[in-house]
Amino acid sequence: MRIFAISDVHVDYPQNMALIQGLSGREYRGDTLLLAGDVSDDLARLARVLGTLRERFAHVFFVPGNHELWVRREEQGDSVAKFGQIVRLCAELDVATSPAKVTSGPADPGAWVVPLFSWYVKPEQGGASLYVPRERDDPSLSMWADEVLTRWPEPLSVADYFLDMNEPHLGRPYDAPVLSFSHFLPRREVMFRAPAAPPARAGRAIRFNFSRVAGSTRIEAQLRALGSAVHVHGHQHRNRDRVIDGVRYVSNCLGYPPERARGEIGESCGSLKLVWDSGSKSG
Ligand SMILES: [Fe+2]
Ligand SMILES: [Fe+2]
Repeated sequence: MRIFAISDVHVDYPQNMALIQGLSGREYRGDTLLLAGDVSDDLARLARVLGTLRERFAHVFFVPGNHELWVRREEQGDSVAKFGQIVRLCAELDVATSPAKVTSGPADPGAWVVPLFSWYVKPEQGGASLYVPRERDDPSLSMWADEVLTRWPEPLSVADYFLDMNEPHLGRPYDAPVLSFSHFLPRREVMFRAPAAPPARAGRAIRFNFSRVAGSTRIEAQLRALGSAVHVHGHQHRNRDRVIDGVRYVSNCLGYPPERARGEIGESCGSLKLVWDSGSKSG
């Protein structure tokens, strides 16, 4: 069983939608795809993408990103309600949002895929934040659209709300290697290109500090509890692939066309990334 990963396909850009719609109808018929969030906040577009991918792949797994949970002014309900709608949409389209074992047949040991729902923890929200201080960064997050476009019922610890949903999956006996994935980042190191260390208080002043909204160390605790061999995440639009303390961390974002044009996204940009092959010796 080959398992591919991609995230942040942001199909509101027609170029990105064309890339997804242009995927081969034959090449991936026996394969699995992990889609790690940020497809679109438009549910019709999300449904179109999930439907297309489901036709191309034997199995598709999905977790929503922050963009999916945007609620436009004209929309009813809040981001929690929208999350529920998305999970139901996935069920209708036979797209998995909970753990399942994938295998290509009796001779294939297969792998377990465990989707982890998540959200980020801001620095003022506690120690699970991935915040890395930078000089004069803007604590108001005035450039961050989630501040305006997500709506939460009060009071809600958003990251805990989603991460708590994963808890029942953590203690299960998994009889094959585990691949987990989340939209948000599980640990600080994956924000930075190895071996560069995170700049503590050096470097140029910036207004937007991504680490304020990057992820949560609770994702890391969950993937370690699962014993994940590979963890895929999205969200940062900077691709990474490296092993830290025995776990391979991969991000393979498609990102925005201008980011690609500027060469900001990095390796394997614009294509699916093979993250597991249970038919090969290397696994
Ligand atoms: Fe994104
Ligand atoms: Fe994101």
